[in-house]
Amino acid sequence: MNPFVKIHDAWKSFDQGRVEVLRGVNLEVNEGEIVALCGASGCGKSTLLNCISGLEEIDRGHVSVSGHDVVNESVRVNLLRKHIGYVFQFHHLMQDLTLAENCYVPVIAVGGARQEALERMQELAEATGMSHRLHQRVRELSGGERQRGALIRSLMNDPKLLLCDEPTGALDEKNREKVFDLLLDLVRKNGRTLILATHDPELAARCDRTLRMRDGRI
Ligand SMILES: Nc1ncnc2c1ncn2[C@@H]1O[C@H](COP(=O)(O)OP(=O)(O)O)[C@@H](O)[C@H]1O
Ligand SMILES: [Mg+2]
Repeated sequence: MNPFVKIHDAWKSFDQGRVEVLRGVNLEVNEGEIVALCGASGCGKSTLLNCISGLEEIDRGHVSVSGHDVVNESVRVNLLRKHIGYVFQFHHLMQDLTLAENCYVPVIAVGGARQEALERMQELAEATGMSHRLHQRVRELSGGERQRGALIRSLMNDPKLLLCDEPTGALDEKNREKVFDLLLDLVRKNGRTLILATHDPELAARCDRTLRMRDGRI
């Protein structure tokens, strides 16, 4: 079986090469795997997730997702819209829109059917205990609710690959457990692939495998 995410000798630097972040990363993740990406703050976890998603471009090497090379821009945009969900560390929801409106944005991006999308939103909202908050503006939601909302949004197009960047980092312990349980449950139930950046060993221990980043490598 071909790995679902495959990275071969990926290099990435910032500031005209002055900040070398990825220094020959190799990585293979199979479909359905739940993988924790650990390492000290600043070691390059977010950069690596961005390079897998195609939000950032690597300087050299290869990154492929679902057999598609994440280099060509149109391939990248298509992958990101249709097959990759991303939960950012600080949710990145639009504050003045309602949660439902935020969750509808990725559906517009792929031209998805409205009725189906609304049904899916309802299901995900029920699964995350957010049904009663869907029509609230994001600025009126608590931190935990925003993160759960970001999770709903990331799953709207039923992505094959979910990337989560310290999705519970901004939450207190109780909410952290709740959001993380939900996340694992939704991903496992649907056989999806998850790469989760975290510096929390307890969360990492609940994944199938832990990768440790250091000195720009895994
Ligand atoms: N756009 C950028 N421009 C310059 N430096 C960056 C940029 N993005 C990340 N970096 C640097 O790359 C390193 C890795 O950052 P990051 O991937 O965010 O680490 P982590 O997520 O593990 O904390 C840090 O030193 C950070 O300052
Ligand atoms: Mg980070």
